[in-house]
Amino acid sequence: MKQERLEKLLNEMSLSEKIGQLIQLSGDFFKSKDISFGPIQKLGIPDKLVDLSGSIMNVTGAAETQRLQKQQMAKQPHHIPVLFMSDVIYGFKTIFPIPVGLGATWNPELIKEAFKVAANEAAVSGNQVCFAPMVDVTHDPRWGRTLESPGEDPYLNSCFAKAMVEGLQEQLPNKKGQVACVKHYAAYGAVEAGLEYNLADMSMSNLFQNYLPPYKAAVKAGCKMVMASLNTLNGVPATANKWLLTDLLKKQWGFNGVIISDYASVYELIKHGFAADEEDAAFKALDAGIDIDMKSPVYANGLQKLVENGKLSITKINEACMRILQLKNDLGLFENPYFGSSEIEEHEYTLSDDNRKLARKVADEAIVLLKNNHQVLPLSSNEKVALIGPYGDEKSLIGMWAVHGDIKDCVTIKAALSSILGTNLGYAQGTDITRDKQMLAGLGFLNEERISRIVSDDETENQNHQAALSLAKKAETIILAVGENVFESGEAGSKTNLHLPKNQVKLIKDIHNLGKKIVLVVISGRPLVLTDVIQDVDAVVESWFPGTEGGNAIADVLFGKVSPSGRLSTTFPFTEGQEPLYYSHLSTGRPQKGSQHVGRFVSRYIDAPNEPLFPFGYGLSYADVKYSDLQIESDALNESDNLRLSIKLVNDSQWSQKETVQVYFHDDVASIVQPVKRLVSFKKVTVPAKTSVRVTFSIPATDFSFFDNTGHPKLEKGSFHLFIGPNSNDVITKEFQII
Ligand code: BGC
Repeated sequence: MKQERLEKLLNEMSLSEKIGQLIQLSGDFFKSKDISFGPIQKLGIPDKLVDLSGSIMNVTGAAETQRLQKQQMAKQPHHIPVLFMSDVIYGFKTIFPIPVGLGATWNPELIKEAFKVAANEAAVSGNQVCFAPMVDVTHDPRWGRTLESPGEDPYLNSCFAKAMVEGLQEQLPNKKGQVACVKHYAAYGAVEAGLEYNLADMSMSNLFQNYLPPYKAAVKAGCKMVMASLNTLNGVPATANKWLLTDLLKKQWGFNGVIISDYASVYELIKHGFAADEEDAAFKALDAGIDIDMKSPVYANGLQKLVENGKLSITKINEACMRILQLKNDLGLFENPYFGSSEIEEHEYTLSDDNRKLARKVADEAIVLLKNNHQVLPLSSNEKVALIGPYGDEKSLIGMWAVHGDIKDCVTIKAALSSILGTNLGYAQGTDITRDKQMLAGLGFLNEERISRIVSDDETENQNHQAALSLAKKAETIILAVGENVFESGEAGSKTNLHLPKNQVKLIKDIHNLGKKIVLVVISGRPLVLTDVIQDVDAVVESWFPGTEGGNAIADVLFGKVSPSGRLSTTFPFTEGQEPLYYSHLSTGRPQKGSQHVGRFVSRYIDAPNEPLFPFGYGLSYADVKYSDLQIESDALNESDNLRLSIKLVNDSQWSQKETVQVYFHDDVASIVQPVKRLVSFKKVTVPAKTSVRVTFSIPATDFSFFDNTGHPKLEKGSFHLFIGPNSNDVITKEFQII
């Protein structure tokens, strides 16, 4: 539709119609099947406004969205099409590994391809907007949503933010792809103590340096929507934070798309004690910059009164409404309200062989080999293998936020291994995932009947345990597939105990006592504390929730179809008492190593090491690529120069290896204390077998700047240290100067 017609449409719309555009409701309001997660409550919205609502969340399926579109357009006086929005966070039906695993690929180009597939699967099913990418930087795996984010580093997350937005949106002109909605703006990953929906409180320097960059990268990549977060930031709820939404996002970053609240968060302004009532909440959210009120009654019940009693200018409503109409128009919905939806393509394209192949490739690269003593891996198909553990034959491999995925489509570890090993494979469940009924009941999705199906009675448990031990005795190698229950991570999955459940630890210990070769395969939504089992096993394969092709990818790694190349994008703690634990912490005046003080009065724990169990960037491979000969072209740069460096990588093995070369730095003296190390660049390169390669980088000097407490970047002259290596710990160092 031409711009003038769009403006004419806005002028012709009644106030209720305009307010309707600013309301998003879930499918249940329209007698449709809905898969929404959040808290269910009666909203008390007048039927008329339900009919006028401008977007519908979490309803998909070509036939159903087409039916609903027809139904809703008929009810709207101006027949304005609705937008269908949904949580497509790491796949639609073909599910990729959870984002913390996507982060571990260190391969944004590959993830861009994955997001293209996710976007196309969603588009043929009638969806137009994805609530993704989620790029909250997170430093604390007690937070269940560690699952949803690419990781703990702002630079790495920014690279993924860009790739994900491009992957989602690139094909929009062809009526494919999806509008991206970056979330959760801002700093949701910093919730205190890893507790869901908690506050985030921090210095401006920290906010600009560590939390804002990924959202900004998404906006720079052209992301058309932004979702405000549920948390307060320095005391002000993000949902009503005018500085965050208007001054920074719109005015400074130039964002002119649509801003949506998170689920019910406009109403929650009242619960926060930030707004007195619905009218007050509506005013504060709209005034701050929220265009769409997701799943709360506040805009529906508050805006009309505010305009009528003169407290809110109609201009504000017109502007918000126009942004939504504009988005609909940009997608061509006025001409074709069904966008890319197609029952035929839904059938042909969704979960196609090619999509599955890509999911497997991504999972191959997401898996991180954490331990491989005496090169027990890869295994050979001639070995007699016992697959033991509750994840051995479990289909639930897609993680909590794959709301459109179906675990029925998953390849289990057992299915994948038996196609390689045939009769050389034996299987025993050994134990349940967890036996903690109280915790399971608290997860919110499992009723008593389901729990009693998940948790065996004591006698069955004992039999399972014994059967596993006798199977293990007969095997040469034991693969122990363990992990968290799917609902223990994801939204509202905060935990204080990050160990494997006691019953699984017991199984591991008893099998260890048999003295066999043990490979631990871990399925988890976050870094777990593996300290108590790490010595009992020879190899550890962190597989996350690996997605639809999970079993095949795990088999690829175990049997050497690929050499593992995943590198942690999140630190694995030694104990959860260290949290928040991340590699880029600021220097302290009394560092444990290098302080003038000795003994007690340094920054350390008296009952645990300061160091993590596995650091950021860590991961093993079957090839052992050696780093040497770091060269810097010039070690004195001015502001407009680039730091040009190169490093030699030698691969003496028979394996062709994908290697992630990581570049970190430290600003030695600065007017704001700087992190001990900060990632500034990386490259994932292939080092063919028996060869060496030289990897080069050219890093603009301005990338070595930091943000001050007014949010401005500063590059201060002086000496810097450069670190380069295969992870954040094992690095080669050189000094350079900014002059
Ligand atoms: C989550 C969002 C999600 C939304 C819609 C909220 O509870 O925080 O990440 O997009 O629900 O499902």
